[in-house]
Amino acid sequence: MQPSSELLKLLRERVATVVLTGAGISAESGIATFRGGTGSLWDKFRPEELASADGFLANPKLVWEWYQWRRRLINEAGPNPGHLTLAEMEKELPNFTLITQNVDNLHQRAGSKEVIELHGNIHRNKCQRCAAPFPDIDFEPEHLPQCPCGGSIRPDVVWFGEMLPEAALNLATQRSAKARLFFSIGTSAVVYPAADLPLIAKRCGAYLVEINPEETMLTPFADEVFSAPSGSALPEIWRHVRSGIHAS
Ligand code: OAD
Repeated sequence: MQPSSELLKLLRERVATVVLTGAGISAESGIATFRGGTGSLWDKFRPEELASADGFLANPKLVWEWYQWRRRLINEAGPNPGHLTLAEMEKELPNFTLITQNVDNLHQRAGSKEVIELHGNIHRNKCQRCAAPFPDIDFEPEHLPQCPCGGSIRPDVVWFGEMLPEAALNLATQRSAKARLFFSIGTSAVVYPAADLPLIAKRCGAYLVEINPEETMLTPFADEVFSAPSGSALPEIWRHVRSGIHAS
């Protein structure tokens, strides 16, 4: 898993670097990915029932129970070496942007300070009708939380058919267009508009690196591919960068 000299050079020169993460970066923390065989979330559950506004309006209790279950699993999990390496890279690289499709907050728990969240955050809540935020609510299956406006309170995550938060998407797109180095890590690259970001970066001249044990739609466009779990690939790449920094 030796990084190329081109990749090491770009990292040592501290060029504008953007990282896009997906569910795969949290796989080694024990959190199931959405796609990819038995055990993945969309293999076992129906996204239209659990991750859509129509599903929520039809059966809010079921949706809340599913999210409470996922919150528990996430709370019991912790960041893995992949998350921790990205937090270190943020400290060392002056022009570094972390964009995530994940809602699990593990980047923040690993110490990353600026995280562009494209799909929301499972620990936040908002009103389905007026979008007012509700940081702390007591959830009881018999009394589903309500906003004073009469709307139902729901997890603040992006569901199928919904728009991404505009400010986050705009910032992610701008940074991707300016990147000289772009990492796509642990994402199947099938959900848009997030899946466009690596291609925008590539079109604008970035060196594109993919870290994923499986091939994806993006693999043919990547300049360098690490077919390995991110929890081992990222620390290994960073170790090479650091040894060069110390040697010079
Ligand atoms: P997916 O579940 O679609 O893809 C996870 C990817 O991680 C796959 O390509 C795996 O091969 C890879 N993977 C698995 N283990 C890995 C490891 N240890 N290291 C690196 N990669 C690994 O997840 P996303 O691409 O994030 O949307 O899915 C995108 C969106 O689809 C999610 O944000 C979610 C979902 O529906 C919303 O909730 C809106």
